[in-house]
Amino acid sequence: MALADKGKSMLSDNFFDEIGGYPCLRRVHNLLYTKLFTHPWLKGFFAHTKRDVVESQQTDFWASLMGGPKIYGGRSPRDAHVHMFLPGEVFAIRHDLLAETLVEAGVAPLLREKWLALDAQFERAIVNKSLDECHGRYRTEAVIIVPRPADGK
Ligand code: HEM
Repeated sequence: MALADKGKSMLSDNFFDEIGGYPCLRRVHNLLYTKLFTHPWLKGFFAHTKRDVVESQQTDFWASLMGGPKIYGGRSPRDAHVHMFLPGEVFAIRHDLLAETLVEAGVAPLLREKWLALDAQFERAIVNKSLDECHGRYRTEAVIIVPRPADGK
């Protein structure tokens, strides 16, 4: 099923408007990326990433998935993360940080529930069971491995 169809089947047609459109997505992703870029373990995955770029890509990606403007023209989630070894714990930490963020951003409980259900659907595309599943996105790109630090929470 195409990504946009997957989103549509879970959400009402006007989910993007219900959450408050781009201002809400920008507020949520600003808070979320502050947490991701300072998390003792997850920040390692973003060491070579420009925050403003990834934040706006994320905002456009979710806008298109939620029934808003179709501006996102980047990679699919699987292709965007294939060069990182991302175990299930990393996905779960990010998912919990998103849950925390949605409360802080004032998103209503029912909308939070739907948003998180949609987010959870990407687990299979993003999580790797072994290093063999990872490779650079271009020939010379190295695979990023970030071991869990002692204070990795
Ligand atoms: C529902 C889960 C997730 C979704 C939907 C998602 C989506 C995306 C998208 C759309 C991009 C931009 C793609 C492009 O390059 O065109 C991206 C980039 C990125 N994501 Fe995720 N992501 C998710 C989870 C994660 C997790 C768990 C991590 C690791 C902590 C992560 C780390 C990154 C990094 C580091 C980049 C930037 C890559 C670069 O600098 O080229 N993502 N993500």
